[in-house]
Amino acid sequence: MSATARERLIVALDLPNVAEAEAMVAALGDSVSFYKIGLELAFVGGLPLARDLIRRGKQVFLDLKLHDIPNTVARACAQVAGLGATFLTVHAFPQTMQAARQGASGSRLRLLAVTVMTSYDDADLADSGYAFGVGDLVARRAAQARAAGLDGLILSAAEVEAMRAQFGRDFILVTPGIRPTGSQPADQKRAATPAEAIAAGADYLVVGRPITQANDPRAAAEAIVAEIAATAP
Ligand code: C5P
Repeated sequence: MSATARERLIVALDLPNVAEAEAMVAALGDSVSFYKIGLELAFVGGLPLARDLIRRGKQVFLDLKLHDIPNTVARACAQVAGLGATFLTVHAFPQTMQAARQGASGSRLRLLAVTVMTSYDDADLADSGYAFGVGDLVARRAAQARAAGLDGLILSAAEVEAMRAQFGRDFILVTPGIRPTGSQPADQKRAATPAEAIAAGADYLVVGRPITQANDPRAAAEAIVAEIAATAP
């Protein structure tokens, strides 16, 4: 993992429209080099924005959580690779992951598996027909992601240490749910500070509202980059 501290911060552009996202990117300037665009923005111009950001030298994580029949997943991944995105999420079903790997082959696109959504608990899984609880299903799907040749996982800071120990350095671990010391946890229940997540072994941190809703987003981003740099191995 040779990314600089600044390259290890991914700012989630969870904003309602491209104009607000563009204003945030302008406010952050060169303090941020990596942005995450998710479903909210994707449907209102987020994909052309992604292409534009990449043209301007930024890296983009498309958090689209793909899951469909293999043919569709493979072709969708090939299209995302053509956009020049750095990361794309897919759900960690074996068929889906294998198809994604095939669709992204020969490109620089890195595929991250979503194991079990953090909004799910054991009761939700049972309700959906699963025989496994959250812990077992996360472990099973993480191993399947590795076997399918995915590049890494998106996971909470609480899971990073165990996954790093299991899979070694050569697996990208990306951690949302980051709350700088002293900030509001909002709806993140198991938040970690940037230092905690990096020390546990995270490669990249995804941070949204602690930056985008700060009075001074640029200062908030710089503080997190400094914290990553101070903790980074
Ligand atoms: O604003 P905040 O820092 O909570 O944003 C976190 C980002 O990470 C959001 O885009 C959210 O969708 C995403 N995410 C998360 N928890 C997960 C997976 C993704 O918060 N388990």
